[in-house]
Amino acid sequence: MTFDDQEYLQRDPLIDRILITSDEIQRRVAELGREISKEYPHSVPIVVSILKGGVMFHADLQRRLSVLHEIDFLSVSSYHGRTESSGVVRIVKDLKENITDRDVILVEDIVDTGRTLSYLLEILRARRPRSLKVVALLNKVDARVVDVPVDWVGFDIPNEFVIGYGLDWQEKYRNLPFVGVLKG
Ligand code: PRP
Repeated sequence: MTFDDQEYLQRDPLIDRILITSDEIQRRVAELGREISKEYPHSVPIVVSILKGGVMFHADLQRRLSVLHEIDFLSVSSYHGRTESSGVVRIVKDLKENITDRDVILVEDIVDTGRTLSYLLEILRARRPRSLKVVALLNKVDARVVDVPVDWVGFDIPNEFVIGYGLDWQEKYRNLPFVGVLKG
């Protein structure tokens, strides 16, 4: 655990514990960067950040890709029920690039029920990309309701409410360098 992680933990009494340290995240992001780069030796993929949660992971992952690539951003709004997403997704800010015949990689912070991703994949497949793959830093396997393909996973995590490294609680805590759990 780095000094930064400890400092955040000590500073905020609402954070219960660290689930994945910043060092563990950075090591895994580097590995994912190497794995993903191997898949695209002859193309220039578009690496898409799903705002807002995916933004930290997207920024770090790009710097670990050794292949030429482009980036783009997509902002979606999920209509959440009481505790989980409904799967009804509205595009708030669309991609700038045309993805037809392009290799596309979607970068998500977390796949929970799978509803958001499932809906998003359906919308984007209709634009006929050459390939459409997904990398998610966190995978809540036990929370899955819809079966969605996730090509690369950073960490499988238990069914707990997590914050940090892009993930929020009431829009706060996205800046934490680690993934943590709030006090219940
Ligand atoms: C989170 C996350 C995924 C989605 C996963 O986004 O970034 O997009 O929920 O949940 P699901 O698998 O149950 O559909 P959120 O709607 O919280 O928006 P944010 O990224 O702006 O925080």
